[in-house]
Amino acid sequence: MQILEDIKNLYLAQGSTRYGENVTQLEHALQTAQLAIEDGYDDEFIAACFLHDIGHLHYAEGLAQKNIDGEHEELGAKYLSSAFSENVTEPIRLHVAAKRYLCATEPEYHDTLSKASKHSLKLQGGVYTAEEVQEFEKNSLFEKAVKLRIYDDRGKILDLKVINFDEILVLLKKITNTPFTVS
Ligand SMILES: [Fe+2]
Ligand SMILES: [Fe+2]
Repeated sequence: MQILEDIKNLYLAQGSTRYGENVTQLEHALQTAQLAIEDGYDDEFIAACFLHDIGHLHYAEGLAQKNIDGEHEELGAKYLSSAFSENVTEPIRLHVAAKRYLCATEPEYHDTLSKASKHSLKLQGGVYTAEEVQEFEKNSLFEKAVKLRIYDDRGKILDLKVINFDEILVLLKKITNTPFTVS
């Protein structure tokens, strides 16, 4: 089965799992994408925003080892790399690092995080040091990762009007060469 069919089926099967306290994984993904759409971003970045937590869905499916803490960002980026460019996979791979970066570079940012995000920050290695900040900024896509992170943090709103799932599937089809029929 092609990766895009897998993606569709994964969100249909696991998208209703809860994300934090308020929204489901699918709602969170659509909301994060919607924020990128509203700011006029291109399809690849919108796709990155939608797909950023796909690694969580793999954990939910039992497709990944549950004893690895976190790393859903690496898992997701690796999984997607066979069909999508780095413009999609890099912001995804870096979206947890971007939280550590923002905590170091924007003092008020930490207070804005949800309880779940504050908790996971510790497990993910904590606030970046000055050296880690410099290292992070060497990545040519770091600003996209930071932007994705900001949308990610905001994409937990109850009842936000969002792009629908079918439109996202069409968008994903547009930016990959993998044969896929939306049905
Ligand atoms: Fe995430
Ligand atoms: Fe997220």
